[in-house]
Amino acid sequence: MDLLKIALSKGRILTETLQLFEKIQMDFKGVNEDSRKLFYDFEEYGTRMILAKPSDVPTYVEYGVADIGVAGKDVLLEDKKDVFELMDLKLAKCRMAVAVPEDQPPNAPIYRVATKYPRLTEEHFIKRGFPVEIIKLHGSVELGPILGLSDAIVDIVSTGSTLKKNHLKILEEICPISSRLIANQVSFRLKSDVIMDLMEKLKRVL
Ligand code: PRP
Repeated sequence: MDLLKIALSKGRILTETLQLFEKIQMDFKGVNEDSRKLFYDFEEYGTRMILAKPSDVPTYVEYGVADIGVAGKDVLLEDKKDVFELMDLKLAKCRMAVAVPEDQPPNAPIYRVATKYPRLTEEHFIKRGFPVEIIKLHGSVELGPILGLSDAIVDIVSTGSTLKKNHLKILEEICPISSRLIANQVSFRLKSDVIMDLMEKLKRVL
């Protein structure tokens, strides 16, 4: 049987994603990133679940090793992979924002920005009319202004507690972020019946 291969993001969004599938009577029991197992077959649902790093989900889908996937809008905006964005799953809602030190006066110049999202950051500041130097980090970007590496950061903000704990404040919100259902372009045509059926079910519970 040709299973529908679904790439899911590991990490904080995984539980929410599995709960969403449960609501449409697809209970992917046993899928658990702590087990270190990276794929699970569910013949009863005709699916293979693949657990991937969030930033790699669009890559698996673009190359067709996963037919569909659940990926953050942040990663989609940054990597611009050749995939279809099918629907907003409204999971892991947060915002992409520019943040600066709490005590930074308004209109203080920004020369350097630390971020995990260099392309998105560059586009944002070019739109604003002032290009900045971008320093790519892989995590804990809030350290940038604390250590004097950068004047600002661009990062996702969810509860805001990481900013608060590190004495930073939002200067500007760039865009809202949430998880999206994405599809490989060929799979979407070849497996349209099963993918459309899944989307219909998801739409009903969202
Ligand atoms: C993300 C993000 C912020 C934090 C925001 O980091 O990069 O640091 O979450 O969440 P909050 O507003 O609820 O505090 P993550 O936990 O993914 O770790 P990382 O920074 O090391 O990538």
